[in-house]
Amino acid sequence: MSMRNPSVVTWKGCLAPRFLSGNKGTKHSTYRGLMTSLDDAARVIEAADALLITAGAGMGVDSGLPDFRGGQGFWNAYPPYRALKIDFLEISSPDWFRKDPAFAWGFYGHRRNLYRETQPHNGYHLLREWAGKKKNGYFVVASNVDGAFKKAGFEEDRIVEAHGSIEWNQCLSICGAGITPAGPETVEIDTDQMRAVSQIPTCPGCSGTTRPNIMMFGDPYWDKRRTEAQLERFYAWLTGVRKKNVVVIECGAGIEIPSIRERSEEVIEEVGGKLVRINPAHARVPTGQIGLEMGALEALSKINLAHSSM
Ligand SMILES: NC(=O)c1ccc[n+]([C@@H]2O[C@H](COP(=O)([O-])OP(=O)(O)OC[C@H]3O[C@@H](n4cnc5c(N)ncnc54)[C@H](O)[C@@H]3O)[C@@H](O)[C@H]2O)c1
Ligand SMILES: [Zn+2]
Repeated sequence: MSMRNPSVVTWKGCLAPRFLSGNKGTKHSTYRGLMTSLDDAARVIEAADALLITAGAGMGVDSGLPDFRGGQGFWNAYPPYRALKIDFLEISSPDWFRKDPAFAWGFYGHRRNLYRETQPHNGYHLLREWAGKKKNGYFVVASNVDGAFKKAGFEEDRIVEAHGSIEWNQCLSICGAGITPAGPETVEIDTDQMRAVSQIPTCPGCSGTTRPNIMMFGDPYWDKRRTEAQLERFYAWLTGVRKKNVVVIECGAGIEIPSIRERSEEVIEEVGGKLVRINPAHARVPTGQIGLEMGALEALSKINLAHSSM
């Protein structure tokens, strides 16, 4: 996210840490308080001229996908790695593709298959419906690599996949083939060993090993050109909606890699508007913003109900 173009609104870079410390979640002490927040959320969303939807792994949870919250969360989703004492950070290293490509593709092939089989829950469709009615349009910025927003009907040129996409590959040897579509093939996985047991995806340029076009940990080789092009479009949109009553609806963004949370808050600081943060465990918000301590599907469905009674 380091691109700078002085003529457009861009991220400030590093957000003041006051918003990030002690994210313990907003406790709604009474039922009445909770309903008020839901009503407030429904009202600001209804009145918005533009929607920015930001999302992390928690947005996929109600579709049946795991988030990777904490070491235990990852191991609950992928028990074989517990036995190997390999955590999310370690398995997300691009080095595996050189050391042991079948093992690397065990993880990413499994995730690709899982994401392809998964249908986005109704919360995505509600967001798409609301977004389609806004006179200044919408944008989606997600750290998810699962392609769920596109599947739910959001326009491809209004999505930023901040960490890349599992539906695209890049050559491990950087042969010049660039970022290439993953193709429909399924990588078969031995889920006891978490190893690919079918042919692993190869580069259309050089027939060598390929890897997903996803930002991994310790990954200077991630080809970010696709994401950078998406960001250019996003910055142009953001510049156009400055002071235009923008509402940011953030769903399921975690605190361990808080980049999405920071983006949501930076947008509100830079262009004005309101933040509605939906997260069952980490709903704390800066003063004056709205935190809903519940799952994405429940919150979005309740906001929709509140809309229909307005
Ligand atoms: N679907 C995906 O593409 C996917 C899935 C897992 C991880 N990842 C990657 O792993 C990293 C994980 O970071 P992260 O912050 O996105 O996730 P995270 O796993 O660190 O945090 C998930 C957050 O979602 C919240 N949550 C749990 N259930 C929820 C629900 N039903 N509704 C709304 N929120 C819910 C949790 O409280 C938590 O704050 C990211 O870089 C992302 O690219 C992607
Ligand atoms: Zn190649």
